[in-house]
Amino acid sequence: MDLDIKGRTALVTGGSKGLGYASAAALAREGAKVAVAARTKETLNKAAQAIEAVPIMADLSGQAGVMSCIDKTRGSIGNPDILVINTGGPSPATFAQTTPDGWREATDQLFHFTIEMLTAFLEPMKEKGWGRIVVITSFAAQEPVPNLLYSNALRAGIHGLINSIASEVAGHGVTINAVMPGFIMTDRMAGLGIDLDKAAQSIPAKRLGQPSEFGDLVSFLCSERATYITGQAIACDGGVLKGI
Ligand SMILES: NC(=O)c1ccc[n+]([C@@H]2O[C@H](COP(=O)([O-])OP(=O)(O)OC[C@H]3O[C@@H](n4cnc5c(N)ncnc54)[C@H](OP(=O)(O)O)[C@@H]3O)[C@@H](O)[C@H]2O)c1
Repeated sequence: MDLDIKGRTALVTGGSKGLGYASAAALAREGAKVAVAARTKETLNKAAQAIEAVPIMADLSGQAGVMSCIDKTRGSIGNPDILVINTGGPSPATFAQTTPDGWREATDQLFHFTIEMLTAFLEPMKEKGWGRIVVITSFAAQEPVPNLLYSNALRAGIHGLINSIASEVAGHGVTINAVMPGFIMTDRMAGLGIDLDKAAQSIPAKRLGQPSEFGDLVSFLCSERATYITGQAIACDGGVLKGI
């Protein structure tokens, strides 16, 4: 299937590794001109070189880094046609382990960051009459995980935000969706201290997902083929989520 995004510009944040990189690679393979943002210079440059993307070094956990990312994006690829919003996840915690500073940090990292990216790039998409936005969230937004309190709470809020924005911009040729990873084999997943063999047995597909399987879904949602899909939260989880 031709996704028909050759020549479109795309920014993928958290794009040097894992799910962000897989999404950037899938978009680049379809002929989009991609920029990838992350903190670590060496990993970022290597990733960007592999898919002929523009590397944008920025720490997206604070406002200065986010503003710098926005400026560097505009200076390299212009206002992107396609925006994939993603960062590292917050620390695991039960509610008893959460702290006011922890809530502030996680809210900045997930919620405020998403709003800042949307504030910068949504209006130009509306003006152009074409735009695709995908926010990488988590299956935890629909089925809370016991020790991921920050993620459970904030990502569900992001889904509410996405759904509300979708109604405002659908008439302008702009779609916005969330993609919820289940258990996809990335560096972060490997570092969470989860028994991955046991996790695999609990997944209906009996295995963890591959980042490329996730990237394929993201690139489809960012394509010309997905014009009529908006305001949705779509899982890529091998059947973990069961709600009807
Ligand atoms: N993997 C899964 O199955 C899964 C499941 C549920 C939810 N998620 C969520 O999906 C997101 C991506 O997960 P992943 O598994 O792909 O993680 P990952 O493999 O650790 O990759 C994270 C990417 O984000 C970048 N990043 C992290 N913090 C950043 C910051 N402050 N500023 C700029 N870039 C930053 C990293 O590069 P640098 O470190 O160099 O900055 C890297 O490129 C996370 O929010 C995670 O919680 C993943």
